[in-house]
Amino acid sequence: MKKILVLGSLSTDFVAITDRRPNVGETVQGNEFFTTFGGKGANQAVAAARLNSNVVMLGKVGVDSFGEDILENLRKNSVDVKCVESVTSVSSGAALITIADSDNSIVYVPGANGKVDGEYVRKNKDTIEACDIAIAQNEVSEDAIEVLAEICIEAKIPFILNPAPYRELKASILEKATYLLPNESECKLLYPDLSIEEAVAKHPNKLVVTMGSKGVFFNDGKESHLVETFKVDAVDTTGAGDTFIGGFATGLVNNLSLEDSIILGNLSASESVTKMGAQGGMPRLEELKNNKNYKNKWKL
Ligand code: RIB
Ligand code: NA
Repeated sequence: MKKILVLGSLSTDFVAITDRRPNVGETVQGNEFFTTFGGKGANQAVAAARLNSNVVMLGKVGVDSFGEDILENLRKNSVDVKCVESVTSVSSGAALITIADSDNSIVYVPGANGKVDGEYVRKNKDTIEACDIAIAQNEVSEDAIEVLAEICIEAKIPFILNPAPYRELKASILEKATYLLPNESECKLLYPDLSIEEAVAKHPNKLVVTMGSKGVFFNDGKESHLVETFKVDAVDTTGAGDTFIGGFATGLVNNLSLEDSIILGNLSASESVTKMGAQGGMPRLEELKNNKNYKNKWKL
């Protein structure tokens, strides 16, 4: 079975649900609190593994109970964590999430994720080279992403870069990505002088822009396409982008077309937002196969 490598963050999400966000200096009373597993890297790994992909994770956790629980959760989801390292002197990654009106705002504290550097990625070169596609996001260092991009180029492994959350990255890293998957606001920050339409036209079959419920935009070299999302009643959009990427990568690794891989990502993401928590609601393949929009021609 083909393998997906995910380099990225592993975090605990501390979630408060409230009717409205506090203003600066203000306290509001929340309605509910829970902790869930998150981190963009871990979310993307779990999203792909739930669709029966063979997933190898690269990342770091702290030596604390959060770190142990994070690893246990990944194992339960059949993600290979043999190369994930535990590091002392920092906490495991954490995200403080406020959900108001089904939309979120997040304070992300990297902790151990901040220790994921180029040297660690280089050390795992053999593991990377044994994979068929690789994914990274922006919750680990630029150095780590760059080394992964270089190894992928050399080994001719397709590399999916999800530049989230936005931060400035070297142009050379963006160039090395086979697929670049920002959301709409990240795309505007990456290409401030271009409209989304112009940006995808300039990067055909590479730049895939997720625009929430508006759909996903890409250009196939001849024309631009808006792939519509599936309408659902969202309760929590946290991790929707991550679920999309797990589905998208699963599609690619199973030789689906770019458009079908996007549809598979959309389908997974649309199910995931109907339940609370980034990984809550991420569908299993069997569940997705019951969705009327699942295409039976897909050989997953
Ligand atoms: O993409 C969603 C994730 O980003 C959350 O799970 C949280 O960990 C944040 O950093
Ligand atoms: Na969810």
